[in-house]
Amino acid sequence: MRVAVFASGSGSNFQSLVDSSNDGSIDAEIVLCVSNLESAGVLVRARKEHIETLFIRSDQFKKEGEFSKSLLDNLRHNEVDLVALAGYMKKIPSLIIQAFPNRIINIHPALLPDFGGKGMYGAYVHRAVIDSGATLSGATVHIVDEEYDTGTILVQRSVPVLKADTPKSLAARVLKVEHQIYPEAIRLLVRDELQP
Ligand code: GRF
Repeated sequence: MRVAVFASGSGSNFQSLVDSSNDGSIDAEIVLCVSNLESAGVLVRARKEHIETLFIRSDQFKKEGEFSKSLLDNLRHNEVDLVALAGYMKKIPSLIIQAFPNRIINIHPALLPDFGGKGMYGAYVHRAVIDSGATLSGATVHIVDEEYDTGTILVQRSVPVLKADTPKSLAARVLKVEHQIYPEAIRLLVRDELQP
């Protein structure tokens, strides 16, 4: 399976997928790293790993449709089978979602369907979890549909929320689990053991 990872941040999830591919624990190759942010750490990681990078933003194009088309052409050119979003801060255009039915996945740093939706990203998620008094949080891998964080859940794992937690300490605990379940979800998808 040929995987494109879309990310806007430091790319620790990208790295966990690349490492899992390199050590053979997933039968998938990370062939492309797409980012909307030229300075994103994930692009530095990708170059270091000799993985093709694509910096692309919708405002580089006159029309939204041209952006979607260019992105899709790139994915097709790289013969991408699966798109894995890992901290990508933009909505995926419908054209791409339709071109990859059930083949776009995302990782979210909470136990969906709770604490998801527009505006629920990064520290906002962990702040909301702590403020709710929940004793469990975790990470979720799910299929991407046209809404935010509503697609079929593929894999979830929980972590405790501790009394003394700050968004930062909780994020660090959740991130460790993210690095486990994202490769696991891809392993199951490759083996066709997940039926979205
Ligand atoms: C992760 O917490 C992921 O769940 C969320 O964005 C963050 C990306 O972190 N969607 P990193 O760039 O992979 O370290």
